Amino acid sequence: MTIQPVVLVHGGAGEVPEGMRAAHAEGCRVAAIAGLARLRETGSALEAVVRAVEILEDDPRYNAGTGACLDEEGALALDAAVMEGTSLRAGAVCAMPAFRSPIRIARAVLEDGRHVLYAGEGAARFAIERGFERPDPAAMITDAARERWKNVLAGRADRGWAGGTVGAVACDAEGRVAAATSTGGMVAKRVGRVGDSPILGAGTYADDESGAASATGEGEAILRLTLTRHVCELIVRGASAQEAADAAIARLGAKLGGAGGIIVVDRLGRIGHARNTHTMSWGLAREGHDAHSGH
Ligand code: GLY
Repeated sequence: MTIQPVVLVHGGAGEVPEGMRAAHAEGCRVAAIAGLARLRETGSALEAVVRAVEILEDDPRYNAGTGACLDEEGALALDAAVMEGTSLRAGAVCAMPAFRSPIRIARAVLEDGRHVLYAGEGAARFAIERGFERPDPAAMITDAARERWKNVLAGRADRGWAGGTVGAVACDAEGRVAAATSTGGMVAKRVGRVGDSPILGAGTYADDESGAASATGEGEAILRLTLTRHVCELIVRGASAQEAADAAIARLGAKLGGAGGIIVVDRLGRIGHARNTHTMSWGLAREGHDAHSGH
């Protein structure tokens, strides 16, 4: 069977206001197209997911990189992971201070290979050693993020889950899969809190024997259910990518009352996506087809 390379991207489960939904989804479509272009140039699903997520990290509308939400002290604390399904190599960073592209730092962790996950100042030190510049955090904090944080601290909005996590999954022509996820986590989260996104098997997972998945939503619930690994196990047991995505989100809601979404690609390039939230922006680019998006 010929596999048409594919990149599927999400811009986070949540509730994007009605007037912003089309633009939010369009951002995901643009990122998916860029990911597929990178896949074409390099032949690598890993390169594709890193490129797609990097674009969304630079887009201040999403809760990742620039524009990410703030912790209880008003600081950025960023989580990201990338995994490729052939060798199960992976790299991740968590509770990391402001850096422009957490997913590229996670990618450098993967390439370095000594460890899988670096936290906090250790992640920052690793990034600087690898040539990443430490920016002025103020340059990455948007007015919208600061406003949201102030509203939570003043009791005008619920503390908690921010929505807008970003992620991508891809499958190349040989059936090699990869997944990547990046987030600022929750608004006014405790210092040191780490969500599902950088934890393999929870927010991010890839294995060529099944497929690749990136989750978004309430991190504590996704962690407890190791949701992306669960999806891959369902595929091994015979579920389609769409059936696996639907079942995982049903489990998230039924077992823990969790809210969220997931994107999935299997090793034959078939995709699935599901959510139990009002919106989850997504974009899809497949070789030989027009790219499209939804929410
Ligand atoms: N799902 C993102 C987080 O909870 O950190």
